[in-house]
Amino acid sequence: MSHVFPRHCASDLPTAVGGDGCFLIDAVGKRYFDGSGGAAVSCLGHSNTRVRDAIKAQVDQLAFAHTGFFTSEPAEALADLLIEHAPQGMERVYFVSGGSEAAEAAIKLARQYFTERGEPQRRHLIARQQSYHGNTLGALAAGGNAWRRQQFAPLLMEASHIPPCYEYTLRAAGESLEDYGIRSADALEAEILRLGPDTVMAFMAEPVVGATLGAVTAAPGYFKRIREICDRYGVLLILDEVMCGMGRTGHLFACDAEGVTPDILCIAKGLGAGYQPIGAMLTTGTVYDTIANGTGFFQHGHTYLAHPVACAAGLAVVSEMLERDLIGQVRARGAYFEAQLRARFAQNPHVGDIRGRGLFWGLEFVADRESKTPFDPSLGLAGKLKKAAFAEGLICYPMPGTRDGKTGDHVLLAPPFIATEAELDGALDALSRALDGVLAAA
Ligand SMILES: Cc1ncc(COP(=O)(O)O)c(C=O)c1O
Repeated sequence: MSHVFPRHCASDLPTAVGGDGCFLIDAVGKRYFDGSGGAAVSCLGHSNTRVRDAIKAQVDQLAFAHTGFFTSEPAEALADLLIEHAPQGMERVYFVSGGSEAAEAAIKLARQYFTERGEPQRRHLIARQQSYHGNTLGALAAGGNAWRRQQFAPLLMEASHIPPCYEYTLRAAGESLEDYGIRSADALEAEILRLGPDTVMAFMAEPVVGATLGAVTAAPGYFKRIREICDRYGVLLILDEVMCGMGRTGHLFACDAEGVTPDILCIAKGLGAGYQPIGAMLTTGTVYDTIANGTGFFQHGHTYLAHPVACAAGLAVVSEMLERDLIGQVRARGAYFEAQLRARFAQNPHVGDIRGRGLFWGLEFVADRESKTPFDPSLGLAGKLKKAAFAEGLICYPMPGTRDGKTGDHVLLAPPFIATEAELDGALDALSRALDGVLAAA
């Protein structure tokens, strides 16, 4: 009997024993193409020599030094590299161990920024329905997925949730994409006015919504309008790029595609590429200086902040992406992948929408394409697809509850940046077979 507390108590999981490029290998030798990088993590595949070597060398050199006493060479070097490529104005990097920790730090930094400025009444956080920012209590409160929040609701801090920018279901008939983008962003202004403009501290959003909506990009102009609204009311903009950042959507920082700079930016997942648990919160000189010139310390912290081995891994990952132009490759392979997805699935009567950017794509499934009616949730379509694809040797990330936390199903695809066209074709063959089987039985 296993003593591991698994995600699902009834699950009977194979044991992963090896990684080879884009594939994971289990104890009986079966190979699985990692078509979702787990959950958009393994961007360099599973056997990158440079990252492995960097980790080994760092352990030999210095395994750990608490940040209450020391900084470390890999933390300094990784922060320099990130800031060199970050949107204009970003000056500081706060290293944590994952995405939820980055989101928690962002929320607390926003609050402390205002207390230091003598605006302690600014306490409201606005985020979006169907967003995901992590599972710790602050991040979960910020997230807008009804199912994930439900049983913990009595423990969650108050946060408001405006609708996502989700043109597939929320754009009105005859409305242009641009008009919809502006209308959707204007919901933020309405919420700020409802709460009282001088009580709102921050708006938090994923530039491309990942886990809970399935690779939904914003309509053109949406984030520019969001930035304007935040500036108008002195509200901080927190962008959560934990899933869509670090090259996944064709830019090292996903917000570069939108032409906006946040005040606080969260990254994780692809930063460590799965080789080490690491996340980070970046912020501007303005926010940092407010703290530095005020109390002089951010009242936060964890034991493993800026862990040297994690930072050494992150440094090797980002260097590898930049020096091998893997982000250019994401764009090229992404264009190929999109074309293949459309060729195979655009005519499928149960694929309502194909959306995404770079190597981050989602297919949303519907019972009826014309009316965009989702499948009955009792069918458990997403769960069945995950199982069928896994049996075909494909790891992908199907999710139920796309529309409102209960109804709707999608699959998220986030293959490694190093995947070849032939490997991507093989993954889509496996997905087609799995989907056909599941839909035939639906
Ligand atoms: C956008 C976003 N933010 C935060 C998180 C939480 O990250 P972690 O699971 O590393 O805590 C996730 C995880 O999927 C995410 O997609």
